[in-house]
Amino acid sequence: MKYPKTKEVLNQLVADLTQLHMIVHQHHWYMRGNRFLKLHPYLDKVMDELADQLDEVSERLITLDGSPVSTLSEIAAKTNIKDEKGNWDETIDERYAKIIDGYHYLENLYREGIKVSDEEGDYATNDLLTGFLADVEKRIWMMSGEINKAPEIDPE
Ligand SMILES: [Fe+2]
Repeated sequence: MKYPKTKEVLNQLVADLTQLHMIVHQHHWYMRGNRFLKLHPYLDKVMDELADQLDEVSERLITLDGSPVSTLSEIAAKTNIKDEKGNWDETIDERYAKIIDGYHYLENLYREGIKVSDEEGDYATNDLLTGFLADVEKRIWMMSGEINKAPEIDPE
């Protein structure tokens, strides 16, 4: 096997992208308050982005003869992103801050995948993950701006 570390990161991404998609869906459903009419549909775009990345990452893993996790129990055992029971009491800003935390976790995992795929010489995965990292960083900037925070991708 030429790309073992790359494949492990790809499968970690499968679990974490699935988990984060579920968390965003939860906030999309449980959200209440000012800006609801704007921010509830915005999370549809966020979920579309996560679902597209999930499918691409999983299919890249299969292309490399890997086997993506594909059941809720496997994903629950593997993901590093914590979830919480849905509740109605959080502000929209608190919900966005939690989603941004999940995106920062993804940012770090994409960086790890870019590093190991470079070390192992898997240039196609490297290219795929580099594009997704840029998308994730841009999304962090936009969602952070919505709650009056800096992106904190590279703070001074
Ligand atoms: Fe919806």
